[in-house]
Amino acid sequence: MALDEFLVELDGLTDSATESLNAALDVDSLEAVRIDLLGAKSGRLKALQKGLAAIDSAEKPVAGKRFNEAKQKIEAAYAAAKERLTFAVAQQSAAGFDPTEPGCKPILGHLHPITQTIEELKDIFARLGFSVADGPEIEDERHNFEALNIARSHPARDPLDNFYLQTATKSAGPERSEWLLRSQTSTVQIRVMDETPPPVRIVSLGRVYRPDTADATHYPMFHQIEGLLVDTDVTMADLKSVLRMFCSSYLGEDVHVRFRPSFFPFTEPSVEVDMRWQDGWIEMGGAGMVDPNVFEAVGYDPEKVTGFAFGLGVERLCARRYGITDIREFFKNDVRFLHQF
Ligand code: FA5
Repeated sequence: MALDEFLVELDGLTDSATESLNAALDVDSLEAVRIDLLGAKSGRLKALQKGLAAIDSAEKPVAGKRFNEAKQKIEAAYAAAKERLTFAVAQQSAAGFDPTEPGCKPILGHLHPITQTIEELKDIFARLGFSVADGPEIEDERHNFEALNIARSHPARDPLDNFYLQTATKSAGPERSEWLLRSQTSTVQIRVMDETPPPVRIVSLGRVYRPDTADATHYPMFHQIEGLLVDTDVTMADLKSVLRMFCSSYLGEDVHVRFRPSFFPFTEPSVEVDMRWQDGWIEMGGAGMVDPNVFEAVGYDPEKVTGFAFGLGVERLCARRYGITDIREFFKNDVRFLHQF
């Protein structure tokens, strides 16, 4: 190709390129022009650059210099067009902003239904004169079993029925005590009586762990509410009336509660507390009069004090309140379920 011919083509391309870039009306059409002119594979500038090879070698330096100048001019025109259009877009969206328009409402989370239930149960028992006590979820065998009159040979201590921790043994020898995840909140009865002289009037709410197979009424981690009242002349009638008052306060006046004779090593006599639900009964918990052996284990005189204790399942109470037929729903964390509370 002759130099003259090359330069005419180069000038023509520079003029038409500058014109198209200046005329682009939006970012999309500018991009189309850019690809047409400066595209790395089949852009028009690239095609013209190939013509450089055919130019006489004596004239190549002039042709190359003019080509570079033209390329820089086109690239500068492109940069100017881009800035113009980007600024226009920013101005447009600023002009379109209406500060009086209502914003997007953020979706707020809330307390989990079991946490809400725990707070409500605390309130109800506070009105009945009970204060709240706490205890650890990792316990030793004394608090989980021994002081509760559950002998070493008792099946409730079976490793298959508890989550014993393998990390360390709390103490060895005949006094051996293993660590475990507490299987009941009754542990807190012992902790409170160890530290406080009678009278005692507490509830304790928290997580407990058992290797139970999950089904509609069981889960390996669940919550209990423990109650303990110790004073002089406390009777089974007090226990029944407190539980009845609690049940009608949480579930309504028409709730039907049944006390069934039962056995717990730490209460005597003991009862199972059931509630009428659907076509049958659901077991809510256990209760009874504190066994004298338990009083002795914590240094109370069973000749001077009597008391009652109870332990109810929080998931089952909440399920009964809201008509939930499967407590596993509480642990799926499906927000469509959780948002209903
Ligand atoms: C006890 O845990 C006794 N500590 C209760 C007690 C306290 C009796 C004080 C006497 C004096 P039980 O194992 O029955 O008892 O459990 C009590 C309640 O916890 C059950 O009635 C049920 O409502 C709930 N529960 C038990 N196991 C599960 C589980 N795997 N998942 C969900 N809830 C459970």
